[in-house]
Amino acid sequence: MKIKTLRELFEVELRYAYDCGQKLINKGLPSMIQSADSSELRSALEYHLGETRGQSARLERIFTAIGAEPKTNDNDILDEIMKAAKNSTAHIEDSSLRDAALIVNGNQVEHYEIATYGSLVSLAKQLGLRDAVAPLEQTLAEEKAADAKLTQLAETSANVRAAQHAD
Ligand SMILES: [Fe+2]
Repeated sequence: MKIKTLRELFEVELRYAYDCGQKLINKGLPSMIQSADSSELRSALEYHLGETRGQSARLERIFTAIGAEPKTNDNDILDEIMKAAKNSTAHIEDSSLRDAALIVNGNQVEHYEIATYGSLVSLAKQLGLRDAVAPLEQTLAEEKAADAKLTQLAETSANVRAAQHAD
């Protein structure tokens, strides 16, 4: 599809964001939760899974509010990050080291989402899509908080435990 206007660009990016959320809800986060060893990490990921479901519903409301169909665009970037997460879990035997690796991948996902939602907020503002700005800002804030929580878990727990297990 050719993109000719800023509005079309907004809708295309919205569909990539929607696909990203769907993939995380259906596969990405549940498999990370299953692979996580520490209960702290598992509950942080479970909490964010709940938030991600809310974000997806928020996106559906935005599509409706702007008169666009809620459709997904296949998000290859997210696929690649999730592939890296799968490799982390498949190739790391030590559970605390695996948690540290899962957090690396989790931070990567959150940063990608921060970039996506930050751009969507800017586009919605420029386009005067008032119904879209506030919910997108809310999602952006949740992504930033999720990223900070993962970093905190890495620095206070997962990385420390993984370092203790060094040969
Ligand atoms: Fe997220």
